[in-house]
Amino acid sequence: MAYRWKNTLSPADVTPEEHFLNRRAFMAGIVGTGAVAATGAAHAMTDEQLIPNTWEEITQYNNFYEFGTGKTDPASYASALNTDNWTIKIDGLVDRPGEYSMDQLTEGLTTEERIYRFRCVEAWAMVIPWNGFELKDILEKAGVQSGAKYVAFETLVRPSEMRGQRLPTLDWPYREGLRLDEANHPLTMMATGIYGKPMPNQNGAPIRLVVPWKYGFKSIKSIVRITLTDEEPPTSWNMANAREYGFYSNVNPKVDHPRWSQASHRVVGGGLFAKREDTLMFNGYEKEVASLYDGMDLTKFF
Ligand code: MTE
Repeated sequence: MAYRWKNTLSPADVTPEEHFLNRRAFMAGIVGTGAVAATGAAHAMTDEQLIPNTWEEITQYNNFYEFGTGKTDPASYASALNTDNWTIKIDGLVDRPGEYSMDQLTEGLTTEERIYRFRCVEAWAMVIPWNGFELKDILEKAGVQSGAKYVAFETLVRPSEMRGQRLPTLDWPYREGLRLDEANHPLTMMATGIYGKPMPNQNGAPIRLVVPWKYGFKSIKSIVRITLTDEEPPTSWNMANAREYGFYSNVNPKVDHPRWSQASHRVVGGGLFAKREDTLMFNGYEKEVASLYDGMDLTKFF
């Protein structure tokens, strides 16, 4: 079963990596719905394919405030981060709490390649070919207890290597959270690579969240802790400015940011062909995720 994704990009917008495109001809692109995943066919090639941004665009234009607030600061300074012997502490309402090594987290799971739209709340967008796993499969390893309703995430705090953390730009650690049903959705990934290469430090090495229907700041980088809770967890941008950044932060062209419109965005890259395009409800994943928010007032729960 293949899904048609509304694709307003044209091949002229970006310069794809040739190797990648060759491989992509036979590799799965985008996940199906939960129903499809449940039947075992988790992937479906799309008829209308997204053309990914280049490696350079994806790795040279970033937001990672632990390394500074400029778009090129992460590429300039994130090499200072040592990701050796990385662990994620999984705690809270789980049967098997503990410090999980990268090997333990990924053991028995097959790396998948997913080409997702990525829409920053600042109204720019890319298309990124991630490698990784469904978050759900990682949570299952820890055994989520029945009382859990939310998942909280934290980024590493290490100011000696993360120079941006020497300033109180945000209240470190960077924190994010999802409702458990959002976390268990088959589109929600823990990504460990891009274009088949290990995750670059500036993009959130060695492991980060990717939630393609939400604004990019929900996709927390360099995660060291995952906590299952029964209460909505505090999240960094909401803590910094609750009027401007809600807990849900679903991409929604009809709910503007207090200081700018969210109806359209700038496509990163493309040089002379750079352009704006209309932002899609739930970033183009409406069919897959809209039911998660049935009956909710999305202007209130923004
Ligand atoms: N995670 C951490 N720990 N720190 C950050 O500053 N920035 C967020 C998100 N995750 C951020 C983070 C924002 S605002 C965006 S748009 C995306 O990361 C950017 O991801 P990218 O640089 O891989 O495109």
